[in-house]
This record gives sequence, structure tokens and C-alpha cells, in this order.
Amino acid sequence: MKIAVITGASSGLGRDFARLLARKDPPEELWLIARRRERLESLAAELPVPCRVLPLDLTDKADLDAYLALLEAEAPEVTVLICNAGLARMGRIDEISPADTAAMIDLNCRAAVLVTAMTLPYIHRGGRILEVASTAAFQPLPRLGVYAASKAFLYRYSRTLSWELHRKGIRVTAVCPYWVKDTEFIPVAQAGGHRDVRHFLLAGRSEAVVKAAWLANRSGMWLSTPGIVCFLHWIVAKFVPSVVMMALWEGIRRL
Ligand SMILES: NC(=O)c1ccc[n+]([C@@H]2O[C@H](COP(=O)([O-])OP(=O)(O)OC[C@H]3O[C@@H](n4cnc5c(N)ncnc54)[C@H](OP(=O)(O)O)[C@@H]3O)[C@@H](O)[C@H]2O)c1
Repeated sequence: MKIAVITGASSGLGRDFARLLARKDPPEELWLIARRRERLESLAAELPVPCRVLPLDLTDKADLDAYLALLEAEAPEVTVLICNAGLARMGRIDEISPADTAAMIDLNCRAAVLVTAMTLPYIHRGGRILEVASTAAFQPLPRLGVYAASKAFLYRYSRTLSWELHRKGIRVTAVCPYWVKDTEFIPVAQAGGHRDVRHFLLAGRSEAVVKAAWLANRSGMWLSTPGIVCFLHWIVAKFVPSVVMMALWEGIRRL
């Protein structure tokens, strides 16, 4: 059976990736992963492809083991894997609780890498992988420090993965969007009243980000910078020292 797997499918980019896949490249079955079962079920009911709802907490070892066991039992061919589940908390590093810090690292780094590693044996030539990182990967970001570091990790991981899997004919794309305003990401990041970023100037929309990311992956590109802001950020951060980038960011986030 040919399947596609999307993590973080219960809202935002993940939900739009599911809608796009169902339209553009429908698999025989679409596996939808996130914690909120009812959200996944209502998405599954809306989509014109058979879906398997997998309410899993990817920071929980038992749930990761359950995903692996399911892969072993079904032995599907995974044609598309989209590691999209992610989380941020705003605030100074010393203000964020150890539990929230661990949650970011566990989901953004550990879960993405483990889901990829578990799924890789089932991805063959022509398969596609999208790792959803962020423009935050391109520089250290005060008040989003752990999040930015976690996405830098995923961005580097994804870059190597695309290099290593190229000869196997598997296309890997790191997706690095700037702010996306119509998802739950920003309210979750501001939980506890942390409004360290006041305005989200030039923020994009989920559907546009997903479309651009899909196109980049179809075109064999290792990186998707969906939008002019993240594209320029990628270039500029390569040449400008990180201390200057951090100072610029401090100005922007206070606007
Ligand atoms: N929005 C932005 O401004 C922005 C910018 C750059 C990059 N990104 C990245 O884009 C990706 C998608 O974010 P989004 O904007 O679509 O945010 P979102 O609407 O908050 O979606 C996050 C998804 O991750 C899932 N998730 C959270 N914790 C989980 C866990 N422990 N186990 C399994 N699933 C979990 C959530 O579902 P449940 O709560 O149901 O588990 C949800 O489906 C993230 O990786 C984010 O870092 C977002």
C-alpha cells in the first residue's frame, strides 16, 4: 500500500499539507498524526482519500514505539513524509520552564529525527520528505532562543539528509517559513502572556507556504524559503555576523 504520513496534521500547515496532498498527489492512504483525535477525525472526514487517524504524542516514547510497530505491521511504501509538528515558546531562556524547554527540543528535534529514521526503511526511490524547520534556523533569536536553536538543528539535519538520500532518488526539502499568521503557532508561542514579539509584520498565510514548499520539493530543491522575507533572511544571515543579526532582530521584535 502506498501511503503518505503527515505529523502535526490537526491544524495549520499540517492540515493544509493534507488538503494539498489529497488534491495533487493522493496516496492510497493518508496517515494523519497529532495529539487531538477529534481534529484529525474531522479532517479525515473532509478529505477525498482514505485516512488513518493516529492520535499520538510524538514526545512520548510509547507513542513513538506505537508508530514504529504500526509501520512494521503494515509494511507500507511511504511515498511522502512530512515532518511538520513543531512548537515554540517565547521568552528569555531563563524565563522558560525546563518542561517547556524539553517539549520544544523533544518535538522539534528528537521527534522529527526519530519519525524520519523510523519511516526511512519504507521510503523508496521517488519518495519525498519535507522537514518543516523555520527561518528561525538562520540565526540565533533572542526571546525565541531554544526554538531557533532547535530549528537550526533540524535545518542542518535536513540538509545532510537531502545530500545522503540524493543518490537513492529520494528528495528532501527543509521548509523554512517566516511568520505564518493563520495557524495556532503564534498563540501557542505566546502562552503564559509572553508577548516578546509585538507585531508579525509581513506574516504569510498557511496555504501559500504549503503550496510553495510542495513546489520546491517537486522541483528537487533542498530548501524552501516560502516568501521574500525568509529568502532574504537566508541570504543576509550568511554574510552578516550573528551579533549584528541579533541586534537587528531586537529592533524588529520591539516594533
Ligand atoms: N506559524 C509560523 O509562524 C511558523 C513559522 C515558521 C515555522 N513554523 C513551523 O511550522 C510547523 C507547523 O506549525 P503551524 O504554524 O502549523 O502551527 P500549529 O497550528 O500550532 O500546528 C502545530 C501542529 O503540531 C502538533 N503537535 C504539537 N505538539 C505535538 C506533539 N507533542 N505530538 C504530536 N503533534 C504535536 C499540533 O497538534 P496537536 O496539538 O493536536 O498535537 C499541530 O497539529 C511547526 O514545525 C512550526 O515550527 C511555523
